[in-house]
Order: sequence, then structure tokens, then C-alpha cells
Amino acid sequence: MVAKLADTSPVPPRATASGARKQAASSALSLLPAFVERHRWGNRNGADELIEQMAAALSDCYPGIAGKLRRYHGLRPVQMPLPTDILSFEEPTARFVDIVLPPGIEGQLPGIIAEHGRAAELAAFHLFPRHKILLDGPPGNGKTMLAGAFAGELGFPLLRVNYSSLIASHLGETGSNLAKAFRYAECAPCVLFLDEFDGIGADRSTTDLGEIKRITNQLLILIDRMPAHCVLICATNLKDHIDPAVLRRFDFRINIPAPDGETRLRCARNELATTLTPGNDVSHLASVVAEHEFQNLAAVVQRCREIRRDLVLNAGQNVESLASQPTTVHVPA
Ligand SMILES: Nc1ncnc2c1ncn2[C@@H]1O[C@H](COP(=O)(O)OP(=O)(O)OP(=O)(O)O)[C@@H](O)[C@H]1O
Ligand SMILES: [Mg+2]
Repeated sequence: MVAKLADTSPVPPRATASGARKQAASSALSLLPAFVERHRWGNRNGADELIEQMAAALSDCYPGIAGKLRRYHGLRPVQMPLPTDILSFEEPTARFVDIVLPPGIEGQLPGIIAEHGRAAELAAFHLFPRHKILLDGPPGNGKTMLAGAFAGELGFPLLRVNYSSLIASHLGETGSNLAKAFRYAECAPCVLFLDEFDGIGADRSTTDLGEIKRITNQLLILIDRMPAHCVLICATNLKDHIDPAVLRRFDFRINIPAPDGETRLRCARNELATTLTPGNDVSHLASVVAEHEFQNLAAVVQRCREIRRDLVLNAGQNVESLASQPTTVHVPA
């Protein structure tokens, strides 16, 4: 009879790692009911203690989640109701990889996000994460998309200001709407997104309208008061119409230009990837589409989607002619 030898071989590293992750997750989860209970009874210090314990349990195996938990440490729960007339609350899932950008811009983005993950280290040096970003450039090249992706990457909600509700017809109301939007956004980490920004931070030297000057003045004060956990992203097609004092306050001014051939090609390749055209391969048409001088990537995306639609509705009979149609046939709104 052959005796069985005791198994002395080391535990494979992958098994150890997955065991440690399970252990970390279950330690953190076991604290969750107590956290909910303390939160429910308004025991803020007690709830903060548990957040720290959960973060400590997760920090080796899930450093990203631990970092996010610590970010909320010490913040008061938001008491103010969402001003739904002025702000919409979104939880974006977009990421930087979803957006085709010139390499110079792409390279800049991770550094901006990283500052927010290292807020505590910066604080030790009496610094805080830079958090005011202006996006400018011609229409349809991803400014709005990028604002959502910043929120997605940071894991923050996106508070989108409704421009038409913000600009009130009653004198003085626009300023108070703006203040309300900022006050809400300051309650907790978020991205506050102001589109059509030239209409809010207008250049005071080019107008005689006292109301417009007052709005710009108020905006300057609100921007200066913003805490660093609130990321302000503003977008405009008309940077030259913005007041120089407002412009100066942005930490990052990112210009997204009209696309060159290379950017159009990357965008068309994404939109005509075989993963989006099951059972068909029209990826070779990306280079045909990208040859046309589309003014913006919205138009490239639209053309590629017409090609995909044709695959579904017409068995792809028109895909070649759609790809080679000149740009003037379809001007996006
Ligand atoms: N850089 C990009 N990468 C991928 N898709 C893009 C890009 N730019 C534009 N698109 C496509 O065009 C649509 C419109 O883009 P978006 O609204 O972000 O443009 P915008 O710069 O904010 O334009 P506007 O100045 O008119 O507000 C997007 O939903 C997307 O389908
Ligand atoms: Mg936009």
C-alpha cells in the first residue's frame, strides 16, 4: 500500500490573492449594517469610524474603493434638496477610453484624476487637487462627453446645470439660481458641469448690461469659494467671449480642436469595429469615411452609424456608397 504524502507544496499565489480579497471584502461588508445603523441615527463620528475601518480592511486588495471611502470621511450628509429645476443629477459610466482625443489631451487627463486620489498627500503640503477645468473648441468634438467621463473616472455624480432654467427672465434671479447650483454642488464630491459657459461668464468689457456684469461678478465669487472636492467643468464654443478674470481662475484650459485625419480614423475605427456589427465586417470602411474632411467627430460618428444601420435594414447594400459620400451631404445639427 502506498501511503499518501502530506501536500507540502505552497499555495498557488492566485489562490492566496483571491482568498485575501474574499477576506477583505467580507470584513468590510460585516461592518456595513452597523454603519447604516449609525448613519440612520445621525451618529456621524461613529459612522466615520466605521468608514475608516472599512477602508483599512479594503486598502490592500481594493485600494481604489478604499480611497473613495476615505474621500467621504468627515463630510456631512447632503441636507439640501436637489434643485431639480436647475440641476440634473446623473451617475455617469463613461470613461476616457470612450472618447477619441488628440494624444496631447489624452496624456493630460490621468494626471488630473490622480490629484483627486492623492488629496490627503497634497493636504499635508498645504495644497489641494486642482479642480477647475474649462473645455473649449468647435461644436461636436466631445466636450460634453468629456465632462461625463471626468465624473465617471472620479466616481463622482455629474450635476449638469440646465442653462435655460438658470438664465431667468426675472432680474436678479439668474444670480440666485447660480448660487443655488453651486451651494448644492459644494455639499459633497461631485462634478458640476456648466455648458454654454460663455453665456454665464460673459466678458464685462463688452456689455453695458448691468445684469450680465452682476452675473459675472457673482460667478467669480462662487468659483473662488468652491471647495476642492467639487470639480467644476465648464464648456464653451466661444472662449473669447468669456471674461478674462473668469478665464484666469481655471486650473486647466483644454482646447478640443476640430479633428485631423488621424483622429477621424480612430473614431471611425471604433464605430465600425466588428464587435458593433455582429456577423459583418465593414471595418475596412473606416479609412474611407475618415478621408472626408468632417468638421467634427459627431459627424463621423453619425456617418458610421448610418453604415451600421444599413447593415441591419438593407443587408448592407449601401455601405460602400455611404462611406464614400462627401461630407456636404450630411451636416450634423
Ligand atoms: N471625441 C469624441 N469621441 C467620440 N465620440 C465623439 C467625440 N466627439 C463627439 N462625439 C460624438 O458626437 C456626439 C456629440 O458630442 P458632444 O456633445 O460631446 O460634443 P460637444 O463638443 O459638447 O458639442 P457642443 O459644443 O455642440 O456642445 C457624442 O455623443 C458622440 O457620439
Ligand atoms: Mg456640449
